[in-house]
Amino acid sequence: MTRHFLRDDDISPAEQTAILDLAVELKKDRFQTKPLAGPQTVAVIFDKSSTRTRVSFAVGIADLGGIPLIISTASSQLGGKETASDTARVLERQVAAIVWRTYAQSGLEEMAEGTRVPVVNALSDDFHPCQLLADFLTIREHRGALAGLTVAFLGDGASNMAQSYLLAGATAGMNVRVASPAEYSPAASVVADAAARAAETGGSVTVVTDPAAAAAGADVIVTDTWVSMGKEDEKAERVKTFGGYQVDQALMARAKPDALFLHCLPADRGYEVEASVIDGPQSVIWDEAENRLHAQKALLVWLFEQNAEGAAA
Ligand code: CP
Ligand code: NVA
Repeated sequence: MTRHFLRDDDISPAEQTAILDLAVELKKDRFQTKPLAGPQTVAVIFDKSSTRTRVSFAVGIADLGGIPLIISTASSQLGGKETASDTARVLERQVAAIVWRTYAQSGLEEMAEGTRVPVVNALSDDFHPCQLLADFLTIREHRGALAGLTVAFLGDGASNMAQSYLLAGATAGMNVRVASPAEYSPAASVVADAAARAAETGGSVTVVTDPAAAAAGADVIVTDTWVSMGKEDEKAERVKTFGGYQVDQALMARAKPDALFLHCLPADRGYEVEASVIDGPQSVIWDEAENRLHAQKALLVWLFEQNAEGAAA
């Protein structure tokens, strides 16, 4: 069975640690391993806009000795013109892996079912697991171990970032708190899956509506845009509903004095976060953005190793 990375709990706690350990090694010397030498090609497909994901996958694939093939859905046959499954069967004859940023998680599942090469979720409406690897590499760099830390995500609890924090944080043995308006709570099934993971790792998951309660004593404060891609038509209503969830100095003051601030970017200063916080001393957003490169390279190397072992078995 081909290993894919469609959501944060597709990897076990030990596998998450192994990928992050590898990312640390690859960050020390970017050009030390060339599993894509040949060179082999990796398809990186975008149904939605991107700066960080596009650049970090392109650079990372090149670092690994391969060629990134960046495909915009609008100029391809995907997206209503051809199914994900048929696209997968075409691509697997020519590329080493498929990385896809899309809307529905079910599209990624269809792509993965249709192909022998690994499929990586580069953001869907439900999850952003590559971002979480980068976030956790960043937190490890600044705080050491992840297990036992308390992380509070404030804002859109039904978003890809909040839901990935629940799954990835529980996998890492963290105490994950999500604070969002009740109508933007994370999906019950995601909370249940995260709680099951947390029971294995000693972590915990808590979903609340009060941002101050979520932030109290936290080691890490995280937020994200209130208007995720695909929700632009709801902007006015969302800005009104999320108004009380802005990460400002008062909110940061409720967390530990040395709490880190993370944001996957792009950010709307003055909305989900005050400029003085995101541009202040507790913010580690530039390390976080750089770490997309190192974390995703580790993920790709790990996936190629897993799938080579699977093929040999
Ligand atoms: N954080 C992130 O995924 O950024 P991009 O949308 O620029 O890829
Ligand atoms: N939640 C955001 C993340 C962007 C990287 C979105 O989906 O637009």
